[in-house]
Amino acid sequence: MQTGLEPGPRPPSSKPIAPRADAAAWPVRIANVSRAYTAQDGGSGGSVQALAGISLQAGAEELLAVVGPSGCGKTTLLELICGLQRPDTGTIECEAAALMPQRDLLLPWLSALDNAALALRIAHMPRARARACAAAVFDELGLTGFERARPYELSGGMRQRVAFVRTLLSGKRLLCLDEPFGALDAITRAEMHAWLGEALEREPRTVVLVTHDVEEAIMLADRVVVLSPRPGRVVAELDVDLARPRSRTDADVVALREQALIALATATAAPTLEQVR
Ligand SMILES: Nc1ncnc2c1ncn2[C@@H]1O[C@H](COP(=O)(O)OP(=O)(O)OP(=O)(O)O)[C@@H](O)[C@H]1O
Ligand SMILES: [Mg+2]
Repeated sequence: MQTGLEPGPRPPSSKPIAPRADAAAWPVRIANVSRAYTAQDGGSGGSVQALAGISLQAGAEELLAVVGPSGCGKTTLLELICGLQRPDTGTIECEAAALMPQRDLLLPWLSALDNAALALRIAHMPRARARACAAAVFDELGLTGFERARPYELSGGMRQRVAFVRTLLSGKRLLCLDEPFGALDAITRAEMHAWLGEALEREPRTVVLVTHDVEEAIMLADRVVVLSPRPGRVVAELDVDLARPRSRTDADVVALREQALIALATATAAPTLEQVR
């Protein structure tokens, strides 16, 4: 969520990119984007090319999953979409997005409920109403009884769910979720998948979901983009044209998972020129 409270790398001084007329049909439009980090302290002495010439789009109300190996630039990509960073080259045209960061970044001095209601409070909703909105979702996500708990009193999976509620309640139509279910056990994760599917049916949003878990991507997404190892670039795109709810044992799900895994393995086995230099 763009609360302005989360720390992020300082954007380079490029001008904001003006939205185009058809932005509503394509809430995420990324063309030929590259992003490198330059070492500040001189320790490593060079720069790290996180993304190189990446292009992708997400359509309105589409759930786009992005999978790729650790360090290939997935978080960088989401921060670019959310405007927390600027690309070095290329263009990004995205509508206002809410980010669920990879680390939950809950505010330690607020209760779980007040953390979840943060975006509503920032939008000037009265406290009691904001809490009531958050409490309704707490119930659905199995967090009832922990409303008053401080973040340090919650398990990792509970913290993740609170951060998830906070992102959903932002009211933004574009959600960027960075490994939102990574800290959950298998059963809770499956419950969250089902819940997310129902929530998006009730209130459709555009979602860019970053995950390490290829099966999770196939179970949830309309389309899956596979990234190469760093510097991240798109090596495969899979349409997941399957009815919901999906079963992980369904032959089509299994076949698509295999395709994505092969794309990942192929990309990992053949390093790009930049990596071998
Ligand atoms: N603020 C930063 N300063 C310098 N380097 C960074 C910064 N953020 C990320 N990087 C580097 O950029 C590369 C991509 O990082 P990023 O966090 O985007 O990867 P990721 O795909 O999200 O990885 P993971 O799956 O482990 O979360 C990594 O090599 C990382 O070390
Ligand atoms: Mg990451």
